[in-house]
Amino acid sequence: MVFPVYLIGYMGAGKTTVGRMLADKLGWHFVDLDEAFHEIHGLSPADYIRTYGIEAFRKKEKYVVEDLAELPIEKVVYATGGGYPCWEDNMECLKELGTSFYLRWHPHHLAQRLALTDLNERPLLHGKNAEEILSVIMPQLMARIPYYEQADYIIDAPASLDSPLDGTEDEQLADILYDLVNSSAKIG
Ligand code: S3P
Repeated sequence: MVFPVYLIGYMGAGKTTVGRMLADKLGWHFVDLDEAFHEIHGLSPADYIRTYGIEAFRKKEKYVVEDLAELPIEKVVYATGGGYPCWEDNMECLKELGTSFYLRWHPHHLAQRLALTDLNERPLLHGKNAEEILSVIMPQLMARIPYYEQADYIIDAPASLDSPLDGTEDEQLADILYDLVNSSAKIG
């Protein structure tokens, strides 16, 4: 496995939460690329998109990922922005830069999880319940899946539609990833 590690997936997949847990377990660095974008450009991704538009954001976001990858540190877990892999050749870039993991969830679960987050930073979803969120995200999610599925590893969230989410899913995902990354890191 080539390091660093990139977590990809739709909004609400837990890239930041799981990534931070995974980095803690591994004793690695953690970088949230949305936060890095904010620090570098002085605006959150949402504010940047509101001010300059999505095209300008994607161009800058691409450079943020590629510039940080120049750092001579391999032991890093990166949480990417949800749309990053679906732009131009970004999935190919990720494959050259490290190992990518797609955190795959059922759309209903993504909508439920998003409904529990602060939606101020997500204007399209603001004020909507899980059912409404689901109908808003479905078309975009469907268009993005072919990109996400190019990841080196697809990790299915440990959740079933038959039972409600119990809040331990992110921790379980971090454990699954830890086992994969740690066993590969030991082999070298
Ligand atoms: C976006 C997701 C956001 C952020 C930006 C655009 C998207 O990241 O990069 O607002 O297009 O899905 P998260 O997936 O971390 O919320």
